Amino acid sequence: MARHLLKLEGLDEAHLTSLLDRAAGFIPAARGEAEAPASLRGRLVAQLFFEDSTRTRLSFEAATARLGGRSLSLSGVGSSASKGETFLDTALNVDALGVDAMVVRSSISGGADLLARNVRCAVINAGDGRREHPTQGLLDCLTIREAFGKISGVKVAIVGDIANSRVARSAIHSLTTLGASVRLVGPPTLLPRSFAQIAARHDLVSITHDLDSILPELDVIMMLRVQLERAAGGGIAADYREHYGLTHRRALRLPAHCIVMHPGPVNRGVEVDDDVADDGRRSQILRQVTHGVAVRMAVLEESVGRTDRVR
Ligand code: CP
Repeated sequence: MARHLLKLEGLDEAHLTSLLDRAAGFIPAARGEAEAPASLRGRLVAQLFFEDSTRTRLSFEAATARLGGRSLSLSGVGSSASKGETFLDTALNVDALGVDAMVVRSSISGGADLLARNVRCAVINAGDGRREHPTQGLLDCLTIREAFGKISGVKVAIVGDIANSRVARSAIHSLTTLGASVRLVGPPTLLPRSFAQIAARHDLVSITHDLDSILPELDVIMMLRVQLERAAGGGIAADYREHYGLTHRRALRLPAHCIVMHPGPVNRGVEVDDDVADDGRRSQILRQVTHGVAVRMAVLEESVGRTDRVR
């Protein structure tokens, strides 16, 4: 029976912790400093990216290779999608090639679920529209757990374009399940009323539009990318950086232990100033990328790995 990973919403604490433990064990192999088991030997993983990606795509490919599997890669551009073949038909044809798993990124919220209902192989969501980005949520949790030795009780602010962010949705589900408190911060245009309803239902989630007022109380500040491609013509407000950017001056008001995270790609000088993004004491941005490989190794192994874990 294929094991899909479509979303973090609904995954319980034990399952999240088991994935994070498995991923933590893979960090040395993800960095190329240790051998990984050949858990995916003989496995074919289709990497279907109908939206652009650098980190997620390459890290799924790296994870597949580190575990001894093979990737088949497909983009929207350069495939028969450009001739009008539907998203589902494309996936059905890839499934018919005999792959063991498909990793899917698309602009369709619920797109990975649609494929999981229709294909034989395992489906792993690599980001579906505005809905979820589950492996990003896991790598964010792994990064926080590594920095603090725990997640429960850690105070996290997620700042910026919450409305358009699948990263925020996956982080909210996973972090609160593991006991972190989450402050959602952004302008009303990017933090709509539906999130107030989420906060009203959840003790660990709260909302503010005033970033400056919460800086001294944070353990983690997770800056989101302003998603111009989903902004429906709105663009970035000229004063976005003034109110919501993690500027050099704002970073000085964070506690010394507070870490800075960003899923990438960074709009430098908009969400984060250069010197904050590059501050090796605080910034976890590149560590997150390494953890992305380890997390994807864990997810692929859990999903379609050989049970004998040969070396
Ligand atoms: N964080 C993230 O999903 O980055 P990519 O779009 O480059 O994959």
